[in-house]
Amino acid sequence: MAIFRSSTRDVPDDTPCVPRHVAIIMDGNGRWAKQRMMPRVFGHKRGVDALRETVKACDTLGVEYLTVFAFSSENWRRPADEVSFLMGLFLRVLNTEIERMHERGIRLKIVGSRDKFSAELVGLIEAAEARTADNTGLTLSIAADYGGRWDVLNAVNRCLAEQPARAALTEDDIAPFLAMNYAPEPDLFIRTGGEQRISNFLLWQLAYTELYFTDLLWPDFGLGAFNDAIAWYQGRERRFGRTSEQLQATSGC
Ligand code: FPP
Repeated sequence: MAIFRSSTRDVPDDTPCVPRHVAIIMDGNGRWAKQRMMPRVFGHKRGVDALRETVKACDTLGVEYLTVFAFSSENWRRPADEVSFLMGLFLRVLNTEIERMHERGIRLKIVGSRDKFSAELVGLIEAAEARTADNTGLTLSIAADYGGRWDVLNAVNRCLAEQPARAALTEDDIAPFLAMNYAPEPDLFIRTGGEQRISNFLLWQLAYTELYFTDLLWPDFGLGAFNDAIAWYQGRERRFGRTSEQLQATSGC
């Protein structure tokens, strides 16, 4: 397994002009539908279209990893019919999109707990991951029944199960057990829908990520909006704890 550098333990050699890893909270589907007098779930359907466009945009730009929050550990609290619609949507998307993704060379990963998913959904997830495992293009990670605290606790507990005698753990001990151990930390985080919070997404991994918020509702987030986010990112000075003067030697984008 590749070992990725930690933003808190190492200073990165360079900060990429094209983010290697983009993480997105796709918020605003319900409001988008409500504005059109449609049921909330209609917004989720259109959310899949917006996701397809963003996957293409990342692929074209050379982003290596795209991670999207499709369903949080806390989303089980939503009305039962909406939860059930979302589970059905995941099934449909896995069934209908996987060949198209495979043709584009996309590697699909689903991160989060699978304990509450139906056997059918777990089977499709496993098949989709296996089908695309050797692809070398964009890695698309869909976080489903994912929570940042779940991820950290799960990693600590799995680490301790392997090494019960350990009195203290380091970052290097825990990192291999995190759900996204196959990816570098995100360079750019995007949240649509106007809220400015992390909502228990990649709590560990977002330590030094640039955070971009937009009022656009997720179904309205297209190529132009994606490019705006990239342009904003390229104007950021990523200091990783250092001073601006220390960065003068390194060139910007
Ligand atoms: C947040 O909007 C969105 C979700 C909880 C679901 C996200 C799912 C998709 C975009 C569909 C993607 C599907 C797959 C299979 C990856 P919200 O419902 O909280 O909107 P609101 O804030 O306007 O109520």
